[in-house]
Amino acid sequence: MMISSDPSRRNSFQRRIEDGDIVIVYERHDSMKSVKVKGGSCFQNRYGAFKHSDWIGKPFGSKVFNRKGGFVHLLFPTPELWTLVLSHRTQILYLADISLVIFYLEIVPGCVVLESGTGSGSLTTSLARAVAPSGHVYTFDFHEQRSALARDDFNTNGLGGYITVSVRDVQGEGFPDEFLGAVDSVFLDLPQPWLAMPSAARMLKQDGIICSFSPCIEQVQRSCETLRQNFSDVRTFEVLLRTYEIREGRRGAKRNGGPAAQKLNNKRPQLSSEIECEGEESTYVMITPCSETRGHTGYLTFARLISECNQV
Ligand SMILES: C[S@@+](CC[C@H](N)C(=O)[O-])C[C@H]1O[C@@H](n2cnc3c(N)ncnc32)[C@H](O)[C@@H]1O
Repeated sequence: MMISSDPSRRNSFQRRIEDGDIVIVYERHDSMKSVKVKGGSCFQNRYGAFKHSDWIGKPFGSKVFNRKGGFVHLLFPTPELWTLVLSHRTQILYLADISLVIFYLEIVPGCVVLESGTGSGSLTTSLARAVAPSGHVYTFDFHEQRSALARDDFNTNGLGGYITVSVRDVQGEGFPDEFLGAVDSVFLDLPQPWLAMPSAARMLKQDGIICSFSPCIEQVQRSCETLRQNFSDVRTFEVLLRTYEIREGRRGAKRNGGPAAQKLNNKRPQLSSEIECEGEESTYVMITPCSETRGHTGYLTFARLISECNQV
């Protein structure tokens, strides 16, 4: 189960790995994989073979070794990690955009959220955790196979109870009438989101919030024009995330360091900070911007439904 029924506790610290669980096999932040644990199976990577049977019964978060001394970490499939390992059947939303979506849509446990399209289910997974244990996410995609695969993923990750996946052309038909005036927030990641916005407005409760993600500014312009008919406080954001790599170097007795430290120092000296240790040695912490920092992903446009008493 990806979500604890007790929201005050993190499931990863409660659970031991069982046969049939999904674990994230983590080598480092840019190298990890989701694996379904099966008693008789082996996981193979560049460090050798790891028997699944050695993992069963260990707590999530364990560092496990193989016969050759190679090791991996077995992590719990949180939405943050799932987003990094899922099968990309479409473009997906990543952590920076997801964080702003959850925050600005004011999603808390108990909320009812409508989403379209489902895509690879990257955002849906985080929405589900945010609304659990008493809320629900209804997600719609017009692509039948994609919807089925997303549903399989949600069930495998223990999220099936919080998410309903339906096949529907939301741009053409809008959201189903059963949600009229009943949802807290709507999220759109569609090629022509403005077509779904009038329907989204009818689904929202008074004061409800909509968010639309679009990669191109022309889509944003058109969306904003449409939103102004039913919504107030229309705002667009672009989230640019800069990540840093943190490395440690060890310095010898000389003030300017031994060869290893020098090598690190020469790379990007401007962002190093030094921690002096007792005795003649000291360690460095080198903090450097990652070379492959992600740039533009898309624009997030938020707006709040104009309540009837505010309408002129
Ligand atoms: C970019 S993907 C969404 C990715 C998703 N936000 C994620 O984080 O994984 C866009 C999805 O919208 C779906 N879509 C496109 N037009 C649609 C329509 N008219 N109605 C419903 N879904 C549609 C596509 O099939 C596709 O799966």
